[in-house]
Amino acid sequence: MYSLFRDLLFSLDAERSHDFSLAFLKASQRNLLNRIYAQDVPDKPVEVLGLRFKNPLGLAAGLDKNGECIDAFAAMGFGFIEVGTVTPRPQGGNDKPRLFRLPQSQAIINRMGFNNKGVDYLVEQVKRAEYKGVLGINIGKNKVTPEEQALDDYLLCLDKVYAHASYVTINISSPNTPGLRNLQYGEALDHLLRGLKQRQQHLSDQQGKYVPVLVKIAPDLSDEEILDIARSLVQTGMDGVIATNTTLDRKLVEGQEHANEAGGLSGAPLTQVSLQVTQKLSKALDGAMPIIGVGGIDSPHAAKARIAAGSDLIQIYSSLIYQGPDLIKEILESL
Ligand SMILES: Cc1cc2nc3c(=O)[nH]c(=O)nc-3n(C[C@H](O)[C@H](O)[C@H](O)COP(=O)(O)O)c2cc1C
Repeated sequence: MYSLFRDLLFSLDAERSHDFSLAFLKASQRNLLNRIYAQDVPDKPVEVLGLRFKNPLGLAAGLDKNGECIDAFAAMGFGFIEVGTVTPRPQGGNDKPRLFRLPQSQAIINRMGFNNKGVDYLVEQVKRAEYKGVLGINIGKNKVTPEEQALDDYLLCLDKVYAHASYVTINISSPNTPGLRNLQYGEALDHLLRGLKQRQQHLSDQQGKYVPVLVKIAPDLSDEEILDIARSLVQTGMDGVIATNTTLDRKLVEGQEHANEAGGLSGAPLTQVSLQVTQKLSKALDGAMPIIGVGGIDSPHAAKARIAAGSDLIQIYSSLIYQGPDLIKEILESL
């Protein structure tokens, strides 16, 4: 079924195809049209982060940036859904074109730049959803906010989403917001995470509900940087880590059309590097907190390998675009 849709969608420019698909999901998610993509998947319950997941396979951030299609992705069988990245104020993102397919490698390059309708709009969408499962809300900073004031943007988003999220992800690993990845290092990281931890404790006391806070990291890190990040995550009391975001590395797609476009590369070329980051992180953390593995998971084999490497949960994005919702079922049947 999806292969028919895919042929149509892939005949369009990548962002048009994305917009069309999301508009369709949004319009169909709470009526009978959702039968086109709704499916039964095996129950594979897991308990992680103090939360009960229907299964360990989730939708990665960035596909439903505004939280408008939560019920549609739930109907496809995902065990959890991560919406965002959302920023305090709405912003348009980078100039188009900013989204490119590399079909030969089942890969995508994007430099969207956190185009989103702002945190207030996202919260309204979340309230409207019928979905009762685990919902992650991924937060970031506005492009115009100076790097030194990043914490303020994250705190503002945390305040607004806290009551509506099962967990919150701090995205400091998108390559498309200038300076964002600098927050992954040294004192900048400690300062950011300490500030967020303090606010989480305050919100937890105030609302009587503890919402785990996770940090999403890049794949482009040296072994030493991974160790430093792991130390900081533990010291500041973070609840989990998501590995990884997209890569700047183009080695595995050299010579292909669009390979030299600026932005983050995702999909199959990310499989090995993301897996290795998970392995190293898992060793460094030694069970201190759960890991969500993401990056180039595109088959039951890749899903199992990522779990064997130390991931407690996994997420997909690019492989869903190339293979459709059938992949969710295939992966879950294999676990
Ligand atoms: C078009 C596009 C937009 C993305 N936007 C976000 C985002 O807003 N926030 C985020 O944390 N990750 C974002 N990501 C990264 C994905 O969540 C994921 O970490 C990455 O694509 C690797 O997984 P994959 O190989 O399964 O796609 C985006 C990825 C793509 C392809």
